[in-house]
Amino acid sequence: MSSVVPSADLADQHFDFLVIGAGIAGLSAAIRLAVSGSVLVVTKEELAESNTAYAQGGIAVALGGGEDVALHLEDTLAAGDGLVDAAAAKVLVEQGPERVEELLDWGTAFDRENGELMLTREGAHSRSRILHANGDATGREIAVSLLRHVRKLENVRLLEWTTGIDLIVSDERRVIGATLLDGEDGILTIHSRATLLASGGAGQVYSDTTNPAVATGDGIAMAWRAGAAVSDMEFYQFHPTAFSMPGAPRFLMSEALRGEGAYLVNARGERFMQSYHPLLELAPRDIVARAITQEGMDGEVYLDIRHVKKDLQERFPGISRFLAAYRLDLNRDLIPVRPAAHYLMGGILTDTRGRTTLSGLYAAGEAACTGVHGANRLASNSLLEGLVFGALAAEAMTGDPQPAELPQECTRPVEDGNTQEENVERWMADLRSNMWKYAGLLRDAQGLETMQRVLSTLGETMPRGRSRRGIEARNLHAIATMIVASAVGRRESRGAHFRHDFPQHDPMALHSVMVGEQLSFRQNLVED
Ligand code: SIN
Repeated sequence: MSSVVPSADLADQHFDFLVIGAGIAGLSAAIRLAVSGSVLVVTKEELAESNTAYAQGGIAVALGGGEDVALHLEDTLAAGDGLVDAAAAKVLVEQGPERVEELLDWGTAFDRENGELMLTREGAHSRSRILHANGDATGREIAVSLLRHVRKLENVRLLEWTTGIDLIVSDERRVIGATLLDGEDGILTIHSRATLLASGGAGQVYSDTTNPAVATGDGIAMAWRAGAAVSDMEFYQFHPTAFSMPGAPRFLMSEALRGEGAYLVNARGERFMQSYHPLLELAPRDIVARAITQEGMDGEVYLDIRHVKKDLQERFPGISRFLAAYRLDLNRDLIPVRPAAHYLMGGILTDTRGRTTLSGLYAAGEAACTGVHGANRLASNSLLEGLVFGALAAEAMTGDPQPAELPQECTRPVEDGNTQEENVERWMADLRSNMWKYAGLLRDAQGLETMQRVLSTLGETMPRGRSRRGIEARNLHAIATMIVASAVGRRESRGAHFRHDFPQHDPMALHSVMVGEQLSFRQNLVED
């Protein structure tokens, strides 16, 4: 049996494999790594708290064989607006069915009707291919079933309330572990043969986000500071329909609502998507999100599902519960929605086996950029990505040799200093609201340059110190720096990155790559 270990038992230990993040990618990897050695999985809060657990709509998968797989690939390529790495997308759609069958074997209870798996549809899918669980709690069901499986494995140890601080890089430029913050003030040094960053996205870099508080881009920032290449950071997906009410969280109103027939209407109660795309409400996300900002007063429009004759409480129990707290009912009311930051298409540059540009370091899931989503991710491809590429990264990691030595002196000292919580929160709010204003859905050179100045000022007042919030603040500043630099460099509009001053596609579809402050553009993410 694996165990949740008290960190006191762990100070300065060696594991074969260190996995940072316990969402779908991290757990999918841990299950495979356990066959080849000792595994430590660390997570920032409780095991149940990850971006995975918030995924509502479902997991897209082509279970119908060859033609179905080919169509899934076609839809993924089309949604990605010319920038999808076709080889990576092929791996995703071809290996997806086997990985999902495995989930079924491990007891994941996807919704069924008369014994058959139920399939729904979401934006830019040419057919219904999305599995869901407990109506709108797909991510949670998958996370629970993976955890149930992981807990049975002798070789896996699970450590909660632990935040990654920095990677440990040897003189030979090999990643040989990481320093971690244990709770609020303990420092752990973990050495490992191979380290996987599966720490998810960074929605908290924007004031409006569907992501939970843990999504502060820690793994991406750690990799970047260590010198790994990151790519396509300008592509942040804004989900078109987050709940919109002053003072309320931007709770996700799943795209599956539109998949089941919901309309988008403006303040006059009129449908408007016919002016923007032939797929109407099921157009690709970037197009729907921009249509909403053009149509709505201050970006607000409404979801209208009142005409759909289904038991909506049963189909969307989580959303219905959330709305009830605001005295709203899917059967009776228009639901106010607006776009919010949802998913980072960019991340740590990896090949399809999770290998980064640093030896000993791997990444998978939202923290990674394989190019599988291009400039705009196809709905419900993210859970599949974590599942498929988490497993592939694990296979590659097991081939890594033990490092010859484990020198302590390459551990970067953690800055000490007083971090006043109140100041950190104010500093973060400033960063997040400016990112929303100047580097959000609609961009231009003037706004992006303003944001660069804001970042430079915020850099001078950045909270120092080793509290979790201090570390997260530093990471969000790094993420914002990467997003803005890449957005300045991309002088075109494509997918989720829209610039008023460059509204057209550049004929060459290039990926952005950043190593430290250096930004470049190239055709293939992984060079031969
Ligand atoms: C949703 O339920 O709308 C989110 C699914 C996704 O992000 O792909």
